[in-house]
Amino acid sequence: MQRKAQSFETVAWVDDATHPRVRMIDQRLLPVETAYLACEEPEEVAEAIRTLAVRGAPAIGIAAAYGVALALVRAVAQGLPAEQFDALLTSELQRFAATRPTAVNLFWAVERMRLCGARSAGQTPMHRARGLRDEALRIHDEDIACCLAIGAHGAPLLPDAGGVLTHCNAGALATGGQGTAVGVLRSAFALGKHLHVYVDETRPLLQGARLTAWECAQDGMPATLLTDNMAAHLMKLGKVQAAVVGADRIARNGDSANKIGSYGVAILCKYHNIPFYVAAPTTTVDLACASGEQIPIEERSASEVTHLRGVQIAPAGVGVFNPAFDVVPAALIAGIITEHGVARAPFTQDLDAMVAQAAAARAF
Ligand code: MRU
Repeated sequence: MQRKAQSFETVAWVDDATHPRVRMIDQRLLPVETAYLACEEPEEVAEAIRTLAVRGAPAIGIAAAYGVALALVRAVAQGLPAEQFDALLTSELQRFAATRPTAVNLFWAVERMRLCGARSAGQTPMHRARGLRDEALRIHDEDIACCLAIGAHGAPLLPDAGGVLTHCNAGALATGGQGTAVGVLRSAFALGKHLHVYVDETRPLLQGARLTAWECAQDGMPATLLTDNMAAHLMKLGKVQAAVVGADRIARNGDSANKIGSYGVAILCKYHNIPFYVAAPTTTVDLACASGEQIPIEERSASEVTHLRGVQIAPAGVGVFNPAFDVVPAALIAGIITEHGVARAPFTQDLDAMVAQAAAARAF
């Protein structure tokens, strides 16, 4: 499978038997600099996830899977005895599960790697490590296919012409493929729709301004950047016909956690009678969470709010509120676009069926 969906590579396994690496575009530097990290140690991959060098729910899951594989492939190349394989695998799974708390794709990928390791018990360490590497590559390939299917299901929902608002970055930089929300836009453009992308800046870390606006420019998608507090006015002016965002975790009832500010956008859409869509693979659905109440929300450091790219913009010592995500209640969502179709309210039945379909597809 062609794993490079765009002109850049979000995350990749560099297969060199003696010198394996996980390569990723360093999203902290975009859009000013296009530089790649070559992680040779699993801890470098974990740190890249923590510090958002790689971010976005599906991309985090893929990076974690590659990180686990990297740890075992390297250790085996250095002579890891068979009886130590499982202990190392367990500690690597724990390392990656502790990197970020909200995106359930991370835990889903870690669990896939655990099951893969368990299935290979009794084989040689070399076979087992290669099996983990292949599983991580499969996770990546599956995400590419999911993004394309999400695009195919989502594009017809968008108008033939008009403005579509998106928040944060749910593009190729956030996935293994063409993106989820931005993937829907890419597919809609490919159908010949005359859309204009409105990109929320997405404070505090500016994923919209730095990443989505950059992706739009790379692909020639017409786009306009706005600061988050301008969305209401833009809608009142009639410029927005639909909104589409990604998700980090979708509860069984359809409540969807996504980048902080998504809830506000959804409320604005409701008021202005604009459909608000969530686009995400079924790997983002967490049936164990009955509602959004159970979704853990990551709190990040105060400096992300008090400083902008290293420049202090608030008085030292001020109290700071910095949740990285919020939960959009299902009642505000017109549809959840997955690789198996569009889930509609009351969501539970459709989400259950789509997760089961995805599990069945993977069993072959
Ligand atoms: O903190 P981030 O940048 O990892 O947050 C990312 C988002 O909120 C995305 O919208 C979400 O992960 C979906 S990515 C396809």
